[in-house]
Amino acid sequence: MRITVIGTGYVGLVTGACFAKLGHTVTCVDIDEEKVRKINDGIPPIYEEGLEEILKANKNRIKATADHRSAIMSSDVTFICVGTPSRKDGSIDLTFIKETVIQTATILKEMNRWHLVVVKSTVVPGTTQNFVLPLLEQHSGKHVGTDVGLAMNPEFLKEGVAIPDFLNPDRIVIGSTDSKSTATLKELYKVFTCPILVTNLSAAEMIKYASNTFLATKISFINEIGNLCKHLGIDTYQVADGMGLDRRIGRAFLDSGIGYGGSCFPKDVNALLAWAKKNKENARITESARAVNNDQPLRLLRLLKKHIPKLRGKTIGILGLAFKPNTDDIRESRAIPIVQALLKEGTTIKAYDPQAMPAFKKLYPQLTYCSTAEEVLSSDAILIATLWEEFTMLDYRGKTVIDGRRLEQAKNAQTYEGVCW
Ligand code: UDX
Repeated sequence: MRITVIGTGYVGLVTGACFAKLGHTVTCVDIDEEKVRKINDGIPPIYEEGLEEILKANKNRIKATADHRSAIMSSDVTFICVGTPSRKDGSIDLTFIKETVIQTATILKEMNRWHLVVVKSTVVPGTTQNFVLPLLEQHSGKHVGTDVGLAMNPEFLKEGVAIPDFLNPDRIVIGSTDSKSTATLKELYKVFTCPILVTNLSAAEMIKYASNTFLATKISFINEIGNLCKHLGIDTYQVADGMGLDRRIGRAFLDSGIGYGGSCFPKDVNALLAWAKKNKENARITESARAVNNDQPLRLLRLLKKHIPKLRGKTIGILGLAFKPNTDDIRESRAIPIVQALLKEGTTIKAYDPQAMPAFKKLYPQLTYCSTAEEVLSSDAILIATLWEEFTMLDYRGKTVIDGRRLEQAKNAQTYEGVCW
């Protein structure tokens, strides 16, 4: 199939690259000429394991352009993968979606054959049906369902493993208004052996929000249990193992610690809560999941103060700044509230992260950034905020370590405290 992908962020580029790998002809569209040039040179503008290799190996099947018209006119399907940034109140901003849909519809007006438009961006339930569909019909002059197809196809990609996640999915969700759109997407995904679930447009959107909010809640739930376990010295990881053996529960996303960060969970939780509020509904469980997550990194500080009550003038080391290992992404990283609180206390901070220091430096230039993880160990106490593999190699003997991610080797420290164990 000939595919256009609009938006070459993390979702768009991974989607485009993987479809090219599967043998389709892909054109990625982005208004940023620099990104377009890079993609055409086989260099991904974002880092994602394995992406560069796919771009280079499939150069003949994937190209990028800033020209929407030529891309859409010569394709059968257009995936909308533009960003939906958060507003101050947590709700999502649909400006880019609106611009893209109008632009696409205006081009489709000239097309004399059927074309499928697929929303892949994360949008709150009702958006495709009540916002995208009317815009598409109004600006294309075509009827959705007969002259033009419309579908909602959420992504479930984890950063760092987005390519294996795309190529080996647990499920494909197709929200669609008509059988031709459903059949086209089924054809596109026919190489996958996983279940394909067909729903209406709004249910597909809700599946994405419910999945991410549930996983965020699962993490906050185990953190709440962990906070209780801490009182009796119970190892929450053993509790999680015990719970996880129950097939109804499962062990995944039961690693307790200082909570979830990243570009998806915090944003999706906030968007769902803002949407619930708009609909005058309470979403108490999700609200609580957020509250637990906001407090969890501060618990690390409270444990630190148990050992060093006066932090002013002390040097505190932080191992890990990225929101999770194997990424340079610091969005909503739990290290951020920890650093903010430490700075307020008047401490000197020594930090190290294998990949995230350049990004963190832009936010907090006042920290001392170390060139090796060992350098951090000379601090009065060390906080572990991200579970990087290289932190397992360090010698923690004689040190004070407050661990937010359960690093087994750190238990050799002279003083060791885990946040939930
Ligand atoms: C997530 C979803 O997993 C993915 O399906 C969605 O499409 C995008 O958001 P991602 O943000 O890349 O992916 O990271 P993920 O691996 O899910 O971790 C998110 C956060 O939760 C990290 O900060 C991680 O440290 C934390 N986490 C995860 C825990 O604290 N405990 C766990 O057991 C699992």
